Amino acid sequence: MSSQSDETIKRKKDHIEICLSEDVGFSSITTGFENYYFEHNAITEVDFNKVDLTTKFLKKKINYPFLISCMTGGTSEAEKINEHLAIAAKELNIPIGVGSQRQALENDKYISSYKVIRKNAGDVPVLSNIGAAQVSQIKSVEQYRRIVELVNASALVIHVNPLQEMIQTSGEPNFKGLLKNIERLVQRIGIPIIVKEVGSGISKSAAKKILDTGVYGIDVAGAGGTSWAQVELKRNKEENEYFRNWGLPTSYCIRQIKTLKSKYKFSLIASGGISNGIDIAKSIALGADLAASARPLLKIVMNNGVDGIVNEISSWFDDVKKIMYLTGSKNIKELSKQKLINRTELY
Ligand SMILES: Cc1cc2nc3c(=O)[nH]c(=O)nc-3n(C[C@H](O)[C@H](O)[C@H](O)COP(=O)(O)O)c2cc1C
Repeated sequence: MSSQSDETIKRKKDHIEICLSEDVGFSSITTGFENYYFEHNAITEVDFNKVDLTTKFLKKKINYPFLISCMTGGTSEAEKINEHLAIAAKELNIPIGVGSQRQALENDKYISSYKVIRKNAGDVPVLSNIGAAQVSQIKSVEQYRRIVELVNASALVIHVNPLQEMIQTSGEPNFKGLLKNIERLVQRIGIPIIVKEVGSGISKSAAKKILDTGVYGIDVAGAGGTSWAQVELKRNKEENEYFRNWGLPTSYCIRQIKTLKSKYKFSLIASGGISNGIDIAKSIALGADLAASARPLLKIVMNNGVDGIVNEISSWFDDVKKIMYLTGSKNIKELSKQKLINRTELY
């Protein structure tokens, strides 16, 4: 096995371990959701028991506007995690992403850790995943087809993670040619493409350039949840934490990027620090079509398996349902039109 592949496998293992055992959140930035309040509707005429939480994503009807975010694959620890997450996704009828499939491009050793997702997820949308560093380098569309086929993917996610690549030992902080290669992929791969960050957020001007390539969606993966700079700083045993707090808060990214909806048709996903139903509801009212979560779910799947995930996500959506009733929103479309009041307007 090549030493590069050994390194990829070790990195995947470290990421899981560090995310489970260390404090890798932001220390001076939040998602910003705490600054927004729903407008209570004293005359709601919505029947609580008829609130409709379903929506459509990638042409499929799903039970909740929620996605289990891309996390792992390519290491022995990943197989059980992905199996449990996939069973839960099927039970909840929600989409699920696989972690970076770079390891599968290097050799076949852990392909079952990726395949296990589609094997257990039934026909919910499954998202393939590859990094911007690879997209900048790989010219052959055939290589992408291979990783897409491994999970019979409904879409391909490209993660843009310049901060992580910059801090990571042996990272690849060079995305030259990225936008051109994304555009070529959009034209040739034959499935929708979604571009996501990993916790530093996507600005409006970056989003505009991404949307000009013709992608299906953008996942902001903003600041306030997992700090991938901090994960890599922990791996490097570095003390300087300035970049731990680098990035744009999740709520800010959504508000900025949603203004592009007047010009572009795309799916907007809110992630980065989402771990309850209140923030999911707020992200939809701010303009997202779907919310997503990663590290909070990793912890739950490790401790409580499939039932833990099913119970947690169901309880988040019990809260979304209550908010919809109290704001007079009978479905997700009506929730997306709700006005949020900024804290400064209240007092
Ligand atoms: C253990 C772990 C591994 C991850 N690996 C990937 C990955 O391979 N590809 C990717 O796009 N994002 C990856 N992410 C990033 C998440 O998808 C997400 O964007 C980020 O963690 C912010 O969301 P959170 O605050 O809910 O954790 C990973 C997250 C975790 C917790």
